[in-house]
Amino acid sequence: MKVEEEIGRFLRKFEEYLQESIKDPYLLYPLLPAGKRIRPLLLFSASYPVMKEDVMTLALAVELIHSSSLVHDDLPFVDNSPLRRGKPSTHIKYTPGIAVMVGDALMSEAFFIASRVGAEAVAVLADAAGMNGIAGGQILDLKGATTLEEIETLHYRKTVKLMEASFILGLMVSEKRNLMDRGRELSRSIGFLFQVVDDILDEATCGDEPNIVKVIGREKALKVAEMHYNRAVELSEEFEGREIIKWLIKSTMERVSSRG
Ligand code: IPE
Ligand code: IPE
Ligand code: MG
Ligand code: MG
Repeated sequence: MKVEEEIGRFLRKFEEYLQESIKDPYLLYPLLPAGKRIRPLLLFSASYPVMKEDVMTLALAVELIHSSSLVHDDLPFVDNSPLRRGKPSTHIKYTPGIAVMVGDALMSEAFFIASRVGAEAVAVLADAAGMNGIAGGQILDLKGATTLEEIETLHYRKTVKLMEASFILGLMVSEKRNLMDRGRELSRSIGFLFQVVDDILDEATCGDEPNIVKVIGREKALKVAEMHYNRAVELSEEFEGREIIKWLIKSTMERVSSRG
């Protein structure tokens, strides 16, 4: 089967699973329309070709954590973004108070759903959402980061860590623990590639928010992206889901040229 078909099939199943699992309109609002669903795809690419209920369960959990972080990220006292995925952000649709609660509930729902798989999965997600991950990274983002080292720590916590967790959960659930070290290295490269590309695309509109381009310039940022791209492609060869992984790496890199 062609890689695009494989990905399309997974995403269709994922959207069905999401709609069967989440019925509350407040929770559904930030989950739809679908974003790129990169974290579920990373999990799928790590577990490939193993397909079982636990894969879908954890793919949903990582997307719920991601969506919770976006609801909080858009709040007036964080990034103050009125739009998300082309529609009013949750705090505009409802109120900032409700958006705080929706973000909290999405995260609680993620842990609740992941508990069906086990305590280890919940622990991996909690670590990716807390001070070592999104919350800690967002604090650094709000405080400001001006050196490359600070930016890298911020990128790692706010974005890379959940992507790494998604890949690790995919390996765990498909009994591929022998690939854990390589999987960590690979998913870190993909995560950094993703966030550096995102910074390059956001440079003109990021205002006061920390951005790697402000610190090292566009040309060097592109070089950093290229370095992660090459390393990720190289490491992907060791995984059965290599075609899916390469598709993810390439479509992330292509966003720079297509500006999307
Ligand atoms: C946006 O993430 C926030 C960052 C971590 C930079 P995505 O670009 O994965 O958002 P969606 O889910 O596709 O909308
Ligand atoms: C998104 O980060 C939030 C998290 C990663 C938790 P950004 O603020 O950089 O992303 P956008 O531009 O709002 O999607
Ligand atoms: Mg932000
Ligand atoms: Mg933002």
